[in-house]
Amino acid sequence: MSDAATLAQFIRDQAGEAPVEMGLILGSGLGHLADAVEGTAIPYADLDGFPTPGVSGHNPKLVVGDLLGTRVAIFGARAHYYEHGDAGAMRLPLEVLKALGANRLLLTNAAGSVRADTPPGELMILSDHINFAGANPLVGEATDARFVPLGDAYNAEMRAALHDAAVAENIRLNEGTYAWFSGPSFETPAEIRAIRTLGGDAVGMSTVPEVILARFFGLEVAAISAITNMAEGMSDEKLSHAHTKKMAVAGAEKLERLIRRYLSDNG
Ligand code: HPA
Repeated sequence: MSDAATLAQFIRDQAGEAPVEMGLILGSGLGHLADAVEGTAIPYADLDGFPTPGVSGHNPKLVVGDLLGTRVAIFGARAHYYEHGDAGAMRLPLEVLKALGANRLLLTNAAGSVRADTPPGELMILSDHINFAGANPLVGEATDARFVPLGDAYNAEMRAALHDAAVAENIRLNEGTYAWFSGPSFETPAEIRAIRTLGGDAVGMSTVPEVILARFFGLEVAAISAITNMAEGMSDEKLSHAHTKKMAVAGAEKLERLIRRYLSDNG
């Protein structure tokens, strides 16, 4: 496995020396934005030590280039904890992002809604999370840097700017707490009732380990969920990954507009 500095140089050799400003990790069915970047696409398979995500609806390549005046690195796929039981699976990609010069990270995901007033098709920006899976990507990290404070995990300035972008685009942007479940099975109705009682607004199987790692590496973070379904027990809809991918399309269009506006106004 290569180290982050070696991989960053390998990427710069192909994509150019200019430092990356911002990273984006795109969730299930939300990967189209990568195609809009003018730049260089590198398959994860060429990046020694990168995960080889096997989840359909993701696109395992790293795209580095210009998007509306911002130099971005777009990760078209993430490795999930549920694939191999490794909460730190995205550690190397995030360390590489930092080594490429980025100081901001925007994550997107598909999620189930726990709130009756936030139906499928809506977007929710994360104000906080509940680590209901209980796993942590920093287990095994030997330095005191492992004691990462998460009081301000979701950056206030990025959130405010994304809210401004949503207003400008006439997109409703809900805000709430994301509860991370390990997956890959969906939740039970009782788990969803528990999460509602505990203050969760949406549930999903990703993002939280990446947020912890990103804070560890000193990146400012924002994350947005595209709501693809009501959480288990809240509607008659049968949950499946096919359903998630199908329903992500509605959120993806809004999400893309929102991110484009954010980048245009905050490049
Ligand atoms: N639960 C967990 N993950 C999800 C869901 C859900 O209901 N919808 C999309 N991803």
